[in-house]
Amino acid sequence: MQALTHVDTVRPHLEGPDWWRGAVGYEVYVRSFADGNGDGVGDLPGITAKLPYLADLGIDVVWITPFFRSPGLDHGYDVADYCDVDPLHGTLADWDELAAEARRLGLRLFVDIVPNHSSSEHEWFKQAVADPTGPYRDYYLWRDPAPDGGPPNNWVSHFGGPAWTLDPGGSGQYYCHLFLPEQPDLNWANPRVMEEFAEILHFWADRGADGFRIDVAHGLCKDPAFTDNPQHRPVTPGMHPMDVFAAFDHIHDLHRHETAVLFRQWRTAASPQGSVLLGEMDTRNVERFAEFVADGTALHAGFVLQLGLGEWAPEHILDTMLEYQEKANGGCAWEVSNHDQARAVSRFGGGEVGLRRTMAISALMTAFDGMFFVYQGEELGLPDAVLLGHVEDPMSARNGEGMWTRDVARGPMPWTSGPLNGFTTAPAAWIDTAALPPELTVEQQRDRVDSTWHAYRRLVGLRSAEPALWQAPFELMRRDNNCIVLRRGDLIVAGNLGVSAVEVPELLDASIVYESTASALRDGVVAPESTVVGRCAH
Ligand code: NOJ
Repeated sequence: MQALTHVDTVRPHLEGPDWWRGAVGYEVYVRSFADGNGDGVGDLPGITAKLPYLADLGIDVVWITPFFRSPGLDHGYDVADYCDVDPLHGTLADWDELAAEARRLGLRLFVDIVPNHSSSEHEWFKQAVADPTGPYRDYYLWRDPAPDGGPPNNWVSHFGGPAWTLDPGGSGQYYCHLFLPEQPDLNWANPRVMEEFAEILHFWADRGADGFRIDVAHGLCKDPAFTDNPQHRPVTPGMHPMDVFAAFDHIHDLHRHETAVLFRQWRTAASPQGSVLLGEMDTRNVERFAEFVADGTALHAGFVLQLGLGEWAPEHILDTMLEYQEKANGGCAWEVSNHDQARAVSRFGGGEVGLRRTMAISALMTAFDGMFFVYQGEELGLPDAVLLGHVEDPMSARNGEGMWTRDVARGPMPWTSGPLNGFTTAPAAWIDTAALPPELTVEQQRDRVDSTWHAYRRLVGLRSAEPALWQAPFELMRRDNNCIVLRRGDLIVAGNLGVSAVEVPELLDASIVYESTASALRDGVVAPESTVVGRCAH
C-alpha cells in the first residue's frame, strides 16, 4: 500500500458557522470498519488508526454509528447509556484519542444520537417499569389495552408485529416501540426528556463532537390521542416487516408537525457549542422535510433517504433531487446508500453498470446544495456482501427465514487481501461474509490510479477544489427527460442518467473538471449514465 505522503489539515471550504454546507461526510458503520483489538468487532481504536485513510480520501466529516453502552440487539441502536462507550467498541479514553486524532487531521466528527427510543436495559426504562408512579414512568409511552385486551391501537413496529408490548412490570399497560420490544419509545411530550438529551448533546460536544446524526428524527413526537394509522393495503402472512410497515400511512406515529417544532429546542441546546444537527429523515414528503430544515431554526439538514432505497429509476431520481433542491433551502444531506439499505452498486444493476450509475448520481450530488455522504466501502465500488452465516440483523432474524436483510450492507471493510480482508486479526468477524477479491480491497485500489477509489477521491475532492459547485447560484439550464444541465458559476454540470448520449453544446469548449466515467465527454456529447463537470471558456 502506498504510504500517505500528505495529509491536508487545512480545509478552507469548511470555514464559518455554515461550514457543513460544503462538507463531504463518510459513514463509518462501527462494527464493520476496523477492528483494533482483534476480537472480530470494529471499535474506536480501529477507526482512529484509519482516520489518516479518510483524510487522504478527502473526507471532511466522519459520522460514526452508535458505539454507546448497549445490549447490541439492534447493533448499537438500542442504547443503555448515552454517555459511555460500550466495552465492545472501546472506552471513553479511546473516544478522546479518536477525537484528538481527528482534530490533528482536520476532520470533523458526527456522533449518532438515538432519541426515538432507548434500550429496555437503560436505567430510565428499568425505573419506569419498577415504579409506575415514579418520575421515569413518563419518560416512555404507556397506554391501557384496547377494550379486547389487545394493543391500544393498530401501530406496527418497523421490525415486525405490533408496536406495543405489555409492561413486564405487570401493570397491565402496554408500552410503545416503533422498533424492537427491547427499544421502548421515549415520550417527547415530557420536557424532562429534552433536558436529558440536551445534557447528552453537551457531553459529546464537550468531548469533541462537531455534530450529531439524529436517528429516526422524523419519529420523535406521536399523536397524543394515539389514533389508528390509516391502512391502504392488506397485510398478509409472511410479508416482510418493511412491507407491512409500508401498508400504513404513518400520519400519527411519524412525520408529525410537533417534531419539527421540537427540533427548535434541539437547536437551542446545540447552539452554544455550534453543533450541527443532521436528521435521519424518512419523511417521503418534501414539504414536511422542508419544515424540519428549511428555515434554519430547527435541524441544519436531513438525509434524503429516498435515493438510497429504490432501484435505478433516472426520472424519479432527478425529480427527487430537483424537488429537494428547490424546497429544502440547502438542508439536504445526499447519499446513495447507508447501513440500512442494499449497496448502490447492487441496487442500480450490479457490476460495471451498477458502478457507472452510482458514480454518475454521486457526481451529480456533489453539485447540489447541502452535504454529500459516502457510505464505507462505496469508495471501492463494493456490491452487497455475500452472506455465509446466520442472519445478524434483528429485522430479518426475528421474522423468519429468507427475508431481505440489512446485513448485505454491513460486511467488513476490505482493507487487504489477507485473512478476513485485513478487517480483524481474530479467527472470525462478527458477521460471516465471503472474502472480497483483491481488486476490491483498499490495498490494491490505492495503488492503481485507474481504480474506483481514485475516481471517488477526485469526486470527493470536487467540493473543496470547486466551491462554486455548492456555493454559486444553482441554475437549472435544461432538462431533457433523464438528462439535466446545471450552471454553477463558471461550471457546467451535465448529469445524463439516461440510456442515450446527449448533446450539451455548453460543454463544447469547456475544460473538463470531472467525468464520472472515462471519456464521458466527446465533442460536446455526454455519454449515457454519466456526469460531466466542465468549466466554461466564457
Ligand atoms: C435507523 C438506523 O439507521 C437503523 O439501523 C436502526 O435499526 C433504526 N433506526 C432504529 O434505531
